[in-house]
Amino acid sequence: MRHRSRTDAESWERFYRRAGRLALASRVGSDDYSYFTSGRSQLAEIAERFRAPPGGTAVEIGCGDGRMTLALADRYDRVFALDVAPTVLAACRDNLQAAGRAGNVTLLLGGADRLALLPAGSVDFVLSATVLQHVSVRDEVLLYLAESGRLLRPGGVAALQLRTPRLRSRVRDVLVDAVRVFGRKLPAFDPSWRGVVLTEAEARHATGRDRAEVSWLVNGHHTWLVVTARPAS
Ligand SMILES: C[S@@+](CC[C@H](N)C(=O)[O-])C[C@H]1O[C@@H](n2cnc3c(N)ncnc32)[C@H](O)[C@@H]1O
Repeated sequence: MRHRSRTDAESWERFYRRAGRLALASRVGSDDYSYFTSGRSQLAEIAERFRAPPGGTAVEIGCGDGRMTLALADRYDRVFALDVAPTVLAACRDNLQAAGRAGNVTLLLGGADRLALLPAGSVDFVLSATVLQHVSVRDEVLLYLAESGRLLRPGGVAALQLRTPRLRSRVRDVLVDAVRVFGRKLPAFDPSWRGVVLTEAEARHATGRDRAEVSWLVNGHHTWLVVTARPAS
């Protein structure tokens, strides 16, 4: 079996060195103001929609160079932000420091197995936006879902964006890449980033739903898997 996250790390490293922020979030402006404002508004929408209150501890899976991490650092007392690509994580550190937001953020380099260092039931919010739909190793995605379920404290929320399991989403991936390369002159996505497809049943099962409410919210080509740990009785 391929190492869980090395393949992803290498391809993201290459792409980030070549295209910078455009590798991570090509649909928002890459100047600092537009970039971090987009992260802030996206986090506000997610928190409101999935009823994730501020405060406590947050985990961000695939933090990139900090587009949403800065906003998480404002909203939560403590943030663990994880990414597989060293150069991207170093840029996240620089961006947090430049914004004076590094104090309550712990950066973790690696994949899903890094989350084992956090105790069960210790996290209030887990976020993964535009990451898991690109992960090419099924066991890695499943471990992220299982770890999210394990980490949540009663009442905590995990908002995990996955690929919608349908054929037209696969066709769209190919078209989007063609537009990137021929229309926008951006580097092509690595084919492995078309990720793995999980069914709703597989995803629900992986989160360990016995202690949580799990919602599956299809939103076009992406689906939000939202796990809300039941309050302690
Ligand atoms: C499209 S970017 C999104 C970054 C950020 N979530 C945002 O919305 O701005 C995807 C990020 O996920 C990271 N990534 C890819 N595979 C990963 C994995 N297995 N574990 C953790 N991070 C991963 C990449 O290095 C990259 O920084």
